[in-house]
Amino acid sequence: MDKLQGIDAAIRRYYSKQVVSEKLIEAILYSVDAGGKRIRPLILLEILEGFGLALTEAHFDVAASLEMIHTGSLIHDDLPAMDDDDYRRGRLTNHKKFDEATAILAGDSLFLDPFALIAGTALSDKIKVELIRRLSISSGTFGMVGGQMLDMQGEGQRLNLEQLSAVHAHKTGCLLAFPFEAAGIIAQQSTEVLQQLTLAGNLVGHAFQVRDDILDVTASFDELGKTPMKDLLAEKSTYPGLLGLEKSYEILDNSLNQAQAIFATLEQQVSFKPKKIQEMIERLRLDA
Ligand code: IPE
Ligand code: IPE
Ligand code: MG
Ligand code: MG
Ligand code: MG
Repeated sequence: MDKLQGIDAAIRRYYSKQVVSEKLIEAILYSVDAGGKRIRPLILLEILEGFGLALTEAHFDVAASLEMIHTGSLIHDDLPAMDDDDYRRGRLTNHKKFDEATAILAGDSLFLDPFALIAGTALSDKIKVELIRRLSISSGTFGMVGGQMLDMQGEGQRLNLEQLSAVHAHKTGCLLAFPFEAAGIIAQQSTEVLQQLTLAGNLVGHAFQVRDDILDVTASFDELGKTPMKDLLAEKSTYPGLLGLEKSYEILDNSLNQAQAIFATLEQQVSFKPKKIQEMIERLRLDA
């Protein structure tokens, strides 16, 4: 099955089970169906295949869970109390299309539903508990939500590089690193391999927010599907703001190089085929 279709089908499957509020599901699917690059779930599926696994419904359900939490984070990130954005994924933001209460609740659903979705898959209990534990840590107080708090506290302030790096590592890095770790857990890899995957995930995850900061100043609305130049307006600290564009491109490149090297080493150490994940990582480079 096509991977993108498989991810979307898994999300739809979950929400077609029963209905409590049709409006809530409409609001959830409005943001899910707006598209998005699906980079997080695709990373998971590509690494699983790199380890030689044949993809199953359970794998697509884990991929879907991750995309659900990410989509929820975008809905909340766009709220007036946070970044106050009108467009996302080329459409009106959730609170603009519906209303603030609906957007808050759609985000809440997308944060909480994934845990039952993973718990209900045909993976072993041991693997499921570890995935649920890691996903909670990557998303919550010690991951994305913690980073979003640092981001909001940092508005109007000039953070130093160490502080900014902590914002990026948490608000974006943790959830982007999750599919790297999760693939290793599902493929039942050794502690050493899991450590390498986590390292690669952290590098790509941090780089992804540096890339997002660069695109905020260099890309157009049509390319982004969201309003550019928002970081300056909100007085956010960003990599281009702190270090300039040239240095930001350099940091992006260096982090991606280091991640690529980890996958090249993994190919030597275990039976892992890195071609597909390395192609995905390459596509994150931006032309200076
Ligand atoms: C945007 O994430 C927000 C960040 C964490 C940088 P993506 O760039 O993955 O957004 P979509 O999913 O493609 O819309
Ligand atoms: C997003 O950071 C981090 C999230 C956890 C959603 P941004 O606020 O820079 O993301 P965009 O630019 O609105 O997509
Ligand atoms: Mg934000
Ligand atoms: Mg934002
Ligand atoms: Mg941004």
